[in-house]
Amino acid sequence: MEKNILITGGTKGIGFAVAKSLVTAGYNVILTYGSDFHQAEKARMELHQAGKKSVMVVKADITEKKSIDILDDFLAEHNIRLFSVVFNAGITCRTPFESLTIDEWEQTFFANLHFPVFLLQRIVHRIDKGGNVLFTGSLMGEYAHSVSLAYGVSKSAVHALVKNLVKFMQPFSIRVNAVAPGFVDTDWQKNKPAEIRKNIENKIALGRFCSPDELAQVYKMIIENNYFNGEIIPVSGGYSYR
Ligand SMILES: NC(=O)c1ccc[n+]([C@@H]2O[C@H](COP(=O)([O-])OP(=O)(O)OC[C@H]3O[C@@H](n4cnc5c(N)ncnc54)[C@H](OP(=O)(O)O)[C@@H]3O)[C@@H](O)[C@H]2O)c1
Repeated sequence: MEKNILITGGTKGIGFAVAKSLVTAGYNVILTYGSDFHQAEKARMELHQAGKKSVMVVKADITEKKSIDILDDFLAEHNIRLFSVVFNAGITCRTPFESLTIDEWEQTFFANLHFPVFLLQRIVHRIDKGGNVLFTGSLMGEYAHSVSLAYGVSKSAVHALVKNLVKFMQPFSIRVNAVAPGFVDTDWQKNKPAEIRKNIENKIALGRFCSPDELAQVYKMIIENNYFNGEIIPVSGGYSYR
C-alpha cells in the first residue's frame, strides 16, 4: 500500500533531506514551504527524480492561521491519508531581550507550537492507525539559548508537547516523537559568521556540524520503528562533551 508523509518546511535543509531519504525508500511526500516557490519547484523535481514517487508541494506559511485551512483543504481535495506527519518548519527571533515585542514572541510561539497543535487537531483523522507524528525540536530546547529567548523556550515547549501528545494520540494508535538536532549544516547555520561557527564546532566533541543527510537517517528510523513513542532524541555530535 502507498504511504504518504506530510513534511512542513520540506523544501530545504533538514526537511528536504528527510524527504529525500523517504522518497528513496518508497514513500510519497507532501512538502510545505513558506515563501520560496522557485526552490519548492526545484525540490519537487529533484525528489521525483530520486524516488519516482509522488511529490506534492504546498505553500503554507506557519506564521499564518489561514495556512491550517490551506493544508486541511489540500489534503481533503486530494483525499490523502497519511502514514506520518513531520512538523519540521520553525522560525527564530533574534531581537535582543531588551527590545523584544509581544508580537514577535507570539509569532515565534504561534509558528513553532500553536500551528502544529491546531493543524494536527484538524488532520488527525487522516493519519493511519499505527502511524506517527514527528517534530523537529532542538538541542536548544534542552540547553539555555544565548541569543533567542523565544526560540529556546518555544522549542522546550515542543518537547513538552510531544510528551503530552502521546496521551492524546494513544486512542488513535499514533506515536509521537521529536528529534532534537544540535547544529546542522543548513542555510540556517551556513549564514552565521565564521567566528561563531568555529565557536560552535569547538563545543562539539566531533568538532563539526551534522550534515542534513546524517540527521535524516534518524528521522527515517523513528518514523519506521514502532517502539519509539514520547521520545526526544538528541542528535548533537557530543555537544558540551568537549
Ligand atoms: N539547522 C540547525 O542547526 C537546526 C538545529 C536545531 C533545530 N533546527 C530546526 O530545524 C527546522 C528546519 O531548520 P533548517 O535548518 O532545515 O532550515 P532551512 O534550511 O532554512 O529550511 C527551512 C524550511 O522551512 C521552510 N520555512 C521557513 N519559514 C517558514 C514559514 N514561515 N512557513 C512555512 N515554512 C517555512 C522553508 O521554506 P521557505 O524558504 O520557502 O520559507 C524551508 O523549506 C526548524 O524547526 C529549526 O528550528 C535546526
